[in-house]
Amino acid sequence: MCGIVGHVGSEQAAPVLIDGLRRLEYRGYDSAGVAVHVEGGDVKVVRAVGKLRNLEAQLGAAPLVGTVGIGHTRWATHGRPSEVNAHPHVAGPIVVVHNGIIENHLALRARLEERGAKIASDTDTELVAHLVAFKVQEGLDLEGAVRAALRELHGAYAIAVLSKSEPDRIVVAKSSSPLVIGLGEGVTYCGSDVPALLPYTRRMIFLEDGDMAVLTRAGASVTRIETGERADRAEKIIDWSAVMAEKAGFKHFMLKEIHEQPRAIEDTLRGRLDRENADIHGHEIGLTEADATSVTRVVLLACGTSHHAAMTGRYYLEQLAKIPTTVELASEFRGRDPIVGPGDLVIAVSQSGETLDTLMAAREAKDKGAKILAIANVIGSAIPRLAHAAFYTHAGPEIGVASTKCFTTQLANLLMLAIWLGRRRGTLDAAGARELVEGLAKIPVQMRDVVIGTRQLVGNLAKRYRDARDVLFLGRGLSFPIALEGALKLKEISYVHAEGYAAGEMKHGPIALIDSQVPVIVLMPKDRWYERTFSNLQEAMAREGQMISVATEGDDAAHRLTQDVVEIASVPEPLTPFLTVLPLQLYAYYVADFKGTDVDQPRNLAKTVTVE
Ligand code: AGP
Repeated sequence: MCGIVGHVGSEQAAPVLIDGLRRLEYRGYDSAGVAVHVEGGDVKVVRAVGKLRNLEAQLGAAPLVGTVGIGHTRWATHGRPSEVNAHPHVAGPIVVVHNGIIENHLALRARLEERGAKIASDTDTELVAHLVAFKVQEGLDLEGAVRAALRELHGAYAIAVLSKSEPDRIVVAKSSSPLVIGLGEGVTYCGSDVPALLPYTRRMIFLEDGDMAVLTRAGASVTRIETGERADRAEKIIDWSAVMAEKAGFKHFMLKEIHEQPRAIEDTLRGRLDRENADIHGHEIGLTEADATSVTRVVLLACGTSHHAAMTGRYYLEQLAKIPTTVELASEFRGRDPIVGPGDLVIAVSQSGETLDTLMAAREAKDKGAKILAIANVIGSAIPRLAHAAFYTHAGPEIGVASTKCFTTQLANLLMLAIWLGRRRGTLDAAGARELVEGLAKIPVQMRDVVIGTRQLVGNLAKRYRDARDVLFLGRGLSFPIALEGALKLKEISYVHAEGYAAGEMKHGPIALIDSQVPVIVLMPKDRWYERTFSNLQEAMAREGQMISVATEGDDAAHRLTQDVVEIASVPEPLTPFLTVLPLQLYAYYVADFKGTDVDQPRNLAKTVTVE
């Protein structure tokens, strides 16, 4: 999705804008541009289609000299990727970058054209520039003009605006799209996401929906768009270091993030495991002991990989806390008037905390009276802010578009939540809880062993099967969401067709896909589903599939029956997904790398999906 960076300081703006945009590349984009106040009261704009290096080449030939500017990476929504549709957009003295969608753009375009606006692009953003320019013509200053314009817009947006006649400031605003302000000494920044600003400052202000702010070298003054009243937003110190957002010697962010998972889990568990009492320190969960016993139903809302984590969470909540639980694709939840309300605990799972489908679904559930708990990785993002409580994962910044470490840390939070609820509801005894708490404490080391111990074998398998047309992932019970996740990872970064299937469901259709050319990856840890998965494995073998198993170490039957076995340690059943997913992430990574695809920024995908 689009990325925004802004700088008002005393250093040159353009290099900071480009550097910030580079740190937002992971969000996905197809064109980019910058605008800088230059000497003589003008604002110069440079835009280019494609990667940032194209923009840099233009800036290299004709540098923009000035200390105040805004930059943008565009992921096309209204109008194809082209220079004329790239941001920033200019109308008279006004220059705008924008992330999100203006819903009333058709009516607005007609109104602006009637007033004589010459609109050059297909974008909704240019309309914002014209609208603000008309407000300036009517005599308002930049802040007043932006405020007046925003009151006429509907939709989800984050914007940053410059005016040629006010060279010392940037006006920003947000509604349902992410925007963060960074504070420094004599310099103020804005960005779509924390990593864009991390090398420059850790002092951040997170705007609320309906906020706007004037950024000057002295700082940020935040007001409400509708009322104009001052809004005091606390400054937060972000403890992610910029180094954590670098590749640290790995070829791609995704590979680094796969290897980082043991550390990410350790950070996520830190301070939360109560090993003495076989329990979880649950103060961040935002539920009282009485809530824990009175909750009648849990509804998990999520998209994509987070949805697979949520599916695993359903097993945990049903098995350990004995709470009826449903899992919903957030994008399907809205619009069907879902039956949800008081007594329901709705858990919105999202690494970015900004996914619009999940945000809107959670908002609907909240409006209907449900209690909302967010499980998110980005502190202060929209979903935690909307929720009654936020139980954060501590994976650190995830840059690869394909989610890996955020997924396993989501599993950790969901399991901790289920243990905490199970203890309070009397459905999980101390011995059972102890096994899980101790198992969690050990899991980072076992994850490290799987990543390091299997990567060569998995790399060889990826090399052998890289040209396979289809790949099938099978699993039952806790391994079913992991099979879905393995298939999603492979699809999104290597563009190979893959299906994840409940192993028992294979005979009802997808078995038709299997022939001697099709790798079939069967997840068969020693768990309660093992025997039945084993039968499904034999059915696939009988169709001459290329069988690969992910099995518990010492499983002789797996070695006898499958050509290749990727071994994981024996762990308590709920912990198996923490290990079985790792070789699947590695497999997707190596296939993509052999194919030479853009692993960290796969085509058509965005890291944070802020459109519905
Ligand atoms: C993950 O690999 C995907 N890129 C995608 O499915 C992602 O999980 C989904 O868009 C949800 O994102 P979220 O966790 O930030 O809400």
